[in-house]
Amino acid sequence: NFTLLGAVFASYLIGAIPFGLVLSRLMTDRDPREHGSGNIGATNAMRTGGKTVGILTLVADIAKSLLPVGLAVWMDLPEIWIAAIATATFVGHLYPVYLGFKGGKGVATMLGAMLPWQPLAAGIGFFLWLVLIMISRYVSLSSVIAALVLPFLVWWTGGSIPALIVSMIFASLVTLKHASNIRRLIDGTEPAIGKDRKASP
Ligand code: G3P
Repeated sequence: NFTLLGAVFASYLIGAIPFGLVLSRLMTDRDPREHGSGNIGATNAMRTGGKTVGILTLVADIAKSLLPVGLAVWMDLPEIWIAAIATATFVGHLYPVYLGFKGGKGVATMLGAMLPWQPLAAGIGFFLWLVLIMISRYVSLSSVIAALVLPFLVWWTGGSIPALIVSMIFASLVTLKHASNIRRLIDGTEPAIGKDRKASP
């Protein structure tokens, strides 16, 4: 089990790679922590560096949890270890050791962790997220709703107890990390996508 504990730790270190920051710096020389919402996620990477940087960040942040969790599923590890690896990549993104534990909001990483493990729930959740973005134009609002719906989707599609618990951890932490967005949504100052209004972190 030492090997598995090592895999969990490695998953944390992979999840902690701040692709939004790395890609923005490499491709535009700008730091997303100094622009828009100040977040290192795909939404703010797009505000900081444009569409390509945003989409690449989204793909990379999904991949960094999809690959470790996908490998764990493919190796047919016990659910509890898949849960630990999924949680580790997610916690890595939210609290990265490389950035003084100040990380992102976890939406893409949550999707990447759930896709190989709970594909139906993740697929429906992702679709719901896209539809909500198209309707509301608020990524943050769509993210929080999709995250809160995820545990119901996992339960509804027959997910295991570890999967259900992990989806609840995801829902809670994603919501918590969106506290400033929720405040802005209530105030009516949250920037909608497509517009370039500045949001304070
Ligand atoms: O994935 C994060 C998104 O839901 C909100 O990002 O930069 O608008 O706070 P941001």
